[in-house]
Amino acid sequence: MTYIIANFKANNSHADMQEWIAQFTSHDLLTLNPNNTLILCPPFPFLHMFQSAFSSYTYIAIGAQDVSAFPEGAHTGDVPARSLSGLATYVLIGHSERRTLHNETVEMCEQKVTQTCEAGLTPILLVRGATDPIPHGVHMVAFEPTDAIGTGNNMSAQDVVAHMKELNLPTDCICIYGGSVNEDNVTDYLSHDALDGVLLGKASLDPHGLYNLLLKASA
Ligand code: PGA
Repeated sequence: MTYIIANFKANNSHADMQEWIAQFTSHDLLTLNPNNTLILCPPFPFLHMFQSAFSSYTYIAIGAQDVSAFPEGAHTGDVPARSLSGLATYVLIGHSERRTLHNETVEMCEQKVTQTCEAGLTPILLVRGATDPIPHGVHMVAFEPTDAIGTGNNMSAQDVVAHMKELNLPTDCICIYGGSVNEDNVTDYLSHDALDGVLLGKASLDPHGLYNLLLKASA
């Protein structure tokens, strides 16, 4: 099984996302390889829209981009894991943008993993390197070197695999790489035995580009 994770970040309005879905589903998604699981991670307000649009595709899953570190309760503005059940299957935790711009600590990431697992959802932990520890309960890790994110400077598959050996990954870990993956370099990662998938930022935003990338991944 291969995983292709599309992280839309905070780029889209409601109308943009409706249009994205219309454009993406104008392609024949049944031609895609069902062994590639596509995990679409829109912003919270659009989870329901995505969940409804793609519920009939067994190889398309929905992920949230973040989750509250707390259980439900008096946490204004937070989105607790339990409120995601039924809307998402996966939850991204610890993106470098959150660790850096929102001062997310290792402890907060651990709490988010715990909340996610307790709600029956699957955490995908994003790490920048060996300094970001992997909490108990994580079996899916995306290695995203910060200087590769959004820069066009993707790390070579060989270097990714070498760095991932230093991460102290759990046995049975699903290993994902993220950072400037695109249509031209995606097969470098997917053809490497030690890697199970890729995480896309920019390459998610154009629905036709994403479809083409998926076709390459299906070949
Ligand atoms: P990028 O983003 O593909 O645009 O480099 C990846 C990420 O931030 O997860």
